[in-house]
Amino acid sequence: MPLAPYLSRYWDAPESWMLDTYLDHGGYVGLRNALAAGPDEVISTVLDSGLRGRGGAGFPTGRKWGFIPQDTSADAADPSAAARPHYLVVNADESEPGTCKDMPLMLATPHVLIEGVIIAAYAIRASHAFIYLRGEVVPVLRRLQTAVAEAYEAGYLGRDILGSGFDLELVVHAGAGAYICGEETALLDSLEGRRGQPRLRPPFPAVAGLYACPTVVNNVESLASVPSILQHGPEWFRSMGSEKSPGFTLYSLSGHVTRPGQYEAPLGVTLRELLELAGGIREGHTLKFWTPGGSSTPLLTDAQLDMPLDYEGCAAEGTMLGTKALQIFDDTTCVVRAVLRWTEFYAHESCGKCTPCREGTFWLRQIMTRLEDGTATADDLDRLLDISDNIVGKSFCALGDAAAAPIVSSIRLFRDEYLAHSPDGCPFDHSRSTIFAR
Ligand code: NAI
Ligand code: SF4
Repeated sequence: MPLAPYLSRYWDAPESWMLDTYLDHGGYVGLRNALAAGPDEVISTVLDSGLRGRGGAGFPTGRKWGFIPQDTSADAADPSAAARPHYLVVNADESEPGTCKDMPLMLATPHVLIEGVIIAAYAIRASHAFIYLRGEVVPVLRRLQTAVAEAYEAGYLGRDILGSGFDLELVVHAGAGAYICGEETALLDSLEGRRGQPRLRPPFPAVAGLYACPTVVNNVESLASVPSILQHGPEWFRSMGSEKSPGFTLYSLSGHVTRPGQYEAPLGVTLRELLELAGGIREGHTLKFWTPGGSSTPLLTDAQLDMPLDYEGCAAEGTMLGTKALQIFDDTTCVVRAVLRWTEFYAHESCGKCTPCREGTFWLRQIMTRLEDGTATADDLDRLLDISDNIVGKSFCALGDAAAAPIVSSIRLFRDEYLAHSPDGCPFDHSRSTIFAR
């Protein structure tokens, strides 16, 4: 398998986070190319590259930038929208269980994100940008603040960037650690100083986002991929990955693998290939189940070891690529206990705005706990599926559907194991497992 280490290629270099190190590795060349090309050309280049959002949904990045109204002429569809300020907001609130790619990226190479921010803001004609960072990760906050200060000092931020006439102010904002603030509209509410809860979409942020102005919200890894596209061109980016999911990306392997960590590879790589790099399942054990994108995607088994890990490959198997957080569980794992842990997480993080999710996640947690403790009744399994059915497609945002996904898929795959939990509780010897032990 051809490896494509681009984002992570000098993570191990001494002081990889410093501006001088970044400049030694081709830093800010993409920005110079962008400023020479002009905003519209930058959007076309990113569109041509086929870059898709790396936060989970895979929406084409260039298309999202293209939604921002630019035409202020009298015959434009909505000249007032183009005249309002435009904002760029970086979603750095990475919180999906098992997802741990954006934090190491910002720790190791904060300048690649900052360069991506400047290019994106230039393309959408925004003069203010915000990085909304998950508040608990103080080392990342400090590193970003230091890098932003370095960029101001060197003339990459502030007024008249590199003599181009383009001005940009960049603010790093630390959130308070709520999973829902990773949902883009809840993030915007939080950034405006309100309690973070999702807004109704449409209108999408591109139309009415931060302070009701046209706003692009992009994930950290998406923006960090942009400088290389401006430096090497869209064809170079398209030469990796698959036709509809081009380029390289970070896959986070965790759980029962010999060498967990970040593995950068072209989109479309398979779990079998990634496991080879990661030393395989821990010695003496076999793969039982795994998730392709955190805990919000349906569970998979060894039947999907050769599934291409791109958007189309996952959709064809009835799952989603999501955040590319591959959580691996071996034969010592009790699936009920694993799913219970995730259900506890969703019940805790439900923002309470809509009834199906607020009440539904509470009951899912109650019943999953009963199953694991041996106090479940005979019809509790059907009740779990019934509650899930009342959440999926009926909740205000994606969190509700995400809470139901591991439950429904695990019952489909491991119904016998669920049945073995009732009425005597969990038949597993949890001391054999290295995770989910209580
Ligand atoms: P979505 O598919 O609704 O939207 C994706 C993006 O495209 C958004 O920025 C949205 O504004 C934009 N968009 C979509 N249709 C548009 C239109 N017609 N006009 C203008 N803009 C449009 O997905 P959503 O709900 O924003 O994100 C869900 C994903 O987030 C899931 O796939 C999940 O994997 C991921 N996720 C990531 C987490 C993390 O920690 N990185 C945490 C939780 C979920
Ligand atoms: Fe809040 Fe859950 Fe409803 Fe989303 S689905 S709005 S998290 S209660």
